[in-house]
Amino acid sequence: MPEPGRNFDAESARASWDAAADPYGSGQAAGRDYYRYEFFGPAHIELCGDVSGLRLLDLGCGNGYFAREMAERGATVTGVDISPRMIERARRLEDETPLGIEYRVRDAAALGDSFADGSFDVVTSCMALQDMPDIPGVLGEAARVLVSGGRLVASIVHPCTDTPFREWERDEAGAKRWLCIDRYFERGPLEYRWVGWSADFTTTSMHATIEDWFRWFREAGFVLHDLREPQPTPAALAARPELEDAARVPYYLLLDLGKP
Ligand SMILES: C[S@@+](CC[C@H](N)C(=O)[O-])C[C@H]1O[C@@H](n2cnc3c(N)ncnc32)[C@H](O)[C@@H]1O
Repeated sequence: MPEPGRNFDAESARASWDAAADPYGSGQAAGRDYYRYEFFGPAHIELCGDVSGLRLLDLGCGNGYFAREMAERGATVTGVDISPRMIERARRLEDETPLGIEYRVRDAAALGDSFADGSFDVVTSCMALQDMPDIPGVLGEAARVLVSGGRLVASIVHPCTDTPFREWERDEAGAKRWLCIDRYFERGPLEYRWVGWSADFTTTSMHATIEDWFRWFREAGFVLHDLREPQPTPAALAARPELEDAARVPYYLLLDLGKP
């Protein structure tokens, strides 16, 4: 169960993700993050469509998972992240397998003099916007650096199931019976303890309602083109029966937003 976040600002986000970078990166490399690889990652990639030849900025790129997926599909990619350690790991992967990605340590809410207005065709963000303390500020920057007609294609945790109270009730054998959800309307930062990775770590995310997200997108000047709630495919379920819970309730939300 998450705890209420104590302080959530750019400094605390940088510090916690710096501390998380090694276990998060090595866990991903070891296949720990199978929800990403088996279904929400492929669904996010599909929603981006053909990115070949496009100038693409990936916000909260971490160690570069989504940036690399986009570069492999022909985009010219820049990745930014607030955590220097994440960017160090991303650059190491780029050195090992060069895809022409440029990485910079930046707060996505303050891209400032780094990128001119209208310098990207697409902005992406893979499972990172909710981890940023100033989401409206980030969306304002995403809109600013996009060309008119450009798109923001993002994945976030699903606001309806990523609530301050969330617990699976289990039967005597330990099987998941149903997901108990409460306190959806209690907005604010929540601290998450990530267990079962190569080392445990804690990060903070912002819980907001769907209405909040929609208002933030609209106020930044975006229009909603498409929205998806990805589910594991039958093939993914056959390969990974542990994904069964994600075929019952929505854990993730994908958004395709346009700058008119
Ligand atoms: C859950 S990780 C996702 C990383 C990567 N996109 C992926 O899919 O593996 C969230 C990332 O957001 C980054 N982040 C948090 N706040 C940020 C901010 N204000 N600006 C840029 N990156 C930020 C963190 O450092 C972390 O790497």
